[in-house]
Amino acid sequence: MIFVTGGAGFIGSNFILNWFQHKNEPLLNIDALFYAGNLENLQSLKNNPHYYFVHGNINNTELLNDLFKIHRPRALVHFAAQSHVDRSIHSPNEFIESNILGTFSLLESTRLYYQNLNPTEKEQFRFLHVSTDEVYGSLNLNDPPFTENNRFQPNSPYSASKAASDHLARAWFHTYHLPVLTSNCSNNYGYFQFPEKLIPLMILNALKGEKLPVYGDGKQIRDWLFVLDHCNALLNILEKGVLGETYNIGGEAEKTNLEVVEKIALILDELMPRKDKQSYLRQIKFITDRPGHDRRYAMDITKIKKELDWQPQENFESGLKKTIEWYLNHPSWVENIQNGNYQEWLKKHYS
Ligand code: NAD
Ligand code: DAU
Repeated sequence: MIFVTGGAGFIGSNFILNWFQHKNEPLLNIDALFYAGNLENLQSLKNNPHYYFVHGNINNTELLNDLFKIHRPRALVHFAAQSHVDRSIHSPNEFIESNILGTFSLLESTRLYYQNLNPTEKEQFRFLHVSTDEVYGSLNLNDPPFTENNRFQPNSPYSASKAASDHLARAWFHTYHLPVLTSNCSNNYGYFQFPEKLIPLMILNALKGEKLPVYGDGKQIRDWLFVLDHCNALLNILEKGVLGETYNIGGEAEKTNLEVVEKIALILDELMPRKDKQSYLRQIKFITDRPGHDRRYAMDITKIKKELDWQPQENFESGLKKTIEWYLNHPSWVENIQNGNYQEWLKKHYS
């Protein structure tokens, strides 16, 4: 069995669905079901005897210790985190709680469990810590992409909390010999992404006839990766990664935000034309920039390509079209999400 934390969120639920496409090995998902956690994402597994869910917080060490004792996993993949940069600017507390203290609690429970394993179990065990490219800070236009050797220079409360968690994971490897692997990934997009993030927000706002809010001049650059490519990279790291190493994961698809929003508008013009036959491009509005907004992220993925034989399979254009089609084909998923707490949060911060 393996444990997954945060498996009801966007990447975690894609990881779990992808896991069962490839394996029969049991998996236990531990998720606190905060606003971005949605069990509807995993509905298709409801009759799968190998899938288990526990509604729990990774800050609850007693619960974690019990789960380790009962289920004796051979690996753990750690996704649970607060993940939205804008929210971290408005209320950083939860980011410190889940991302730093939660990772600390998880590392400690895992250490307790690990130290009592027999030598063969110890040899097999893995703790895969899932992190972000944002820990490296921001690049200028002509800088080379981030490598695993870049300095950590996080700029937002979110990225600072993730950087802190990466440091904790590293320290638990060096000090306690916990078999830690760390991945740092660029911006993901795909199915089940909560519509606070750029791509789903733009798709859904466009369809509702609302503005497409582009921060600042829209020339910030992100390196986009289709979520299932990320999930497969994590499988490779879990099975073949060298203990104590970090691996950059990215899509080699750098785009400005404005380019992304324009592409979404043009694909929607084709798939779901506006009633008035005008282009969705008309809905684009430039708005006040995000405070401390990082200008550019880009990942050098030479290491994972060479050492673990992984590279992205999906190109941005086809992945984006698949993603838009998915949102068009899942209106009830969208409606359920939009009736929830997210609406209240939006009202509070953006009214
Ligand atoms: P998400 O916000 O969609 O999901 C996070 C999940 O974690 C939610 O289900 C939430 O309920 C759960 N969670 C949060 N705090 C918890 C706690 N204390 N205990 C138990 N569960 C908790 O996030 P995501 O986009 O799926 O990101 C998953 C991970 O990948 C995060 O660690 C994030 O930093 C990292 N990451 C995300 C991206 C991206 O583009 N989305 C890119 C690189 C890395
Ligand atoms: O780089 C990896 C990171 O990508 C992950 O670690 C984070 O968890 C994930 O949220 C994401 O962070 P970003 O801040 O890059 O993602 P977001 O979708 O919020 O924004 C992408 C870009 O689009 C960013 O430059 C801000 C801009 N933006 C975003 C929104 C929501 C807009 O211009 N308008 C918007 O309404």
